Amino acid sequence: MTTDEITELLTEAYVDELETVMNYLTNAIVLDGVHAEEVKESLEADVQEELEHARMLGNRLKQLEQSPPGSAAFEASQSGLQPPEDTTDVQSVIEGVLEAEEDAIETYQSLHEAATEANDPVTEDVAVTILSDEEAHRTEFRGFQKEFPSD
Ligand SMILES: [Fe+2]
Ligand SMILES: [Fe+2]
Repeated sequence: MTTDEITELLTEAYVDELETVMNYLTNAIVLDGVHAEEVKESLEADVQEELEHARMLGNRLKQLEQSPPGSAAFEASQSGLQPPEDTTDVQSVIEGVLEAEEDAIETYQSLHEAATEANDPVTEDVAVTILSDEEAHRTEFRGFQKEFPSD
């Protein structure tokens, strides 16, 4: 029923969610300026959702008799989401969020595919539930991006 591919994807996604929590929280705190307020509020709300994703993934690993990892093996990957030197540079945070959400969407699509192949409907359900949140996050930040065109 379960495969190494599934547990590896669940573990990878768990770590990515926690890195996302850290970077969204940091950017929600550091951004300044009138244009930042809505983005900060949105990041603050998403922190709770990303944390809930990590919880769902960790619980699924536990059900599969695996353990979610601690921080010892952690390797940071979200270079695009580091707090900007110019704290009014909301645009760079928006681009970083869109990159992170695209990565997450790819991961959950892979998880869904692997779970379908392995006939693991519970993991499939976890993947679809989280995927739908990530697509909603992407839509929200695409909206912000329209207000802050890249060029
Ligand atoms: Fe997430
Ligand atoms: Fe997200």
